[in-house]
Amino acid sequence: MLAGKRILIVIGGGIAAYKVLEVIRRLKERGAEVRVILTRSGKEFVTPMTVGALSGEKVFSDLFDPTEEQDIGHIVLSRDTDLILVAPATANLIARMANGIADELATASLLAAAAPIIVCPAMNQRMWAHPATQRNAAQLAADGVRFIGPAEGRMAERNEAGVGRLSEPMDIVAGVEAFFAEATQPKPLAGRHVLVTSGPTIEPIDPVRFITNRSSGKQGHAIAAAAARAGARVTLISGPVSVPNPRGVDVVHVETAREMLDAVFAALPADAAVMAAAVSDWRPAEVAGEKIKKAAGAPPPLSFLENPDILATLGHDNRRPKLVVGFAAETTDVESNAARKLVSKGADYIIANDVSAASGVFGGDSNSVYVLSSAGVEAWPTLAKEEVADRLIGLIAKRLG
Ligand code: CTP
Repeated sequence: MLAGKRILIVIGGGIAAYKVLEVIRRLKERGAEVRVILTRSGKEFVTPMTVGALSGEKVFSDLFDPTEEQDIGHIVLSRDTDLILVAPATANLIARMANGIADELATASLLAAAAPIIVCPAMNQRMWAHPATQRNAAQLAADGVRFIGPAEGRMAERNEAGVGRLSEPMDIVAGVEAFFAEATQPKPLAGRHVLVTSGPTIEPIDPVRFITNRSSGKQGHAIAAAAARAGARVTLISGPVSVPNPRGVDVVHVETAREMLDAVFAALPADAAVMAAAVSDWRPAEVAGEKIKKAAGAPPPLSFLENPDILATLGHDNRRPKLVVGFAAETTDVESNAARKLVSKGADYIIANDVSAASGVFGGDSNSVYVLSSAGVEAWPTLAKEEVADRLIGLIAKRLG
């Protein structure tokens, strides 16, 4: 998998730099061509001589070295490569990258890079946890940079431990292999726009109280991630969840069913829509402007209004995506209830699952579903939610042709 891959490694100035020598060896063993840029402070930890001997290539370091610029130049260095690996990425190097600072050959090359970048952070746990570093790392992630680690464990400083260690060399190599495996995966949804709803909605009662449901967003988010891996442009419209935003997906955060409906229609046109959100069917008829006070012996009466049915609205709209997939959360008569929803909601597929407490689906990591369409019913075995997502995306890709 790594044979012939051109990997540029930027070695930053951290005590863990010596571990990257092992990474170079392992990548070379697997057939990769490795070139290295040392940052100025990286040279304090490993020598160009050692790195050059291991990589079998000239090691670069100085931006204003005229012979180096003539040999190759920092622009070529960062362009003529399939992947850039930054390891160890110190807090300082991450901060410079996040802010587009090009103050030496390493950072200038990163700024000129056309190739994908993987960053392997390594620093004291307090530096990693600092809001400034977290902000910089989040900025890099938003810019499309990937991360391997940091790992948890003992620090170079005595008696210190936590999250911030450089990942183990073989974990970094595995991450690089996974990157190339993903990059060579077929992209059956390239050029398609897929809309996914996920998570619960929350419907306010007053400024501090609301009603909601137990949806975790795991299944919907897994579907969005799978669609992105399949090459689609993905808009994920999510209620409040604690699962992280999937990589490579545009996420729109909403709270109420009506906000979700608006966001769905604002995101059209789409080729396919998967409505995995657990939309609240009702909302309190009145939302108190102030917190409702407790009056002894007189709990407030709550009355409800019906929320719009987002799936049915979309399923019957003339701007409807070519393929509309709904979910059916049932606790009884799963198949027959789902079959009814297929028709009433104007969906092409209904993915029906049993959400009774005994099934453990809500909040759990696996799902057993029935897939209903006009062609009939298919029962899938119990699968991890990621696998359900991959299968569903496979089905959608096939139907879109
Ligand atoms: N759905 C929706 N808008 C609603 C309610 C549900 O878009 N107001 C969608 C869900 O995202 C899901 C499908 O409809 O894709 C089925 O949801 P489910 O809760 O199973 O069905 P309901 O229509 O709410 O019916 P019931 O609660 O009676 O089972």
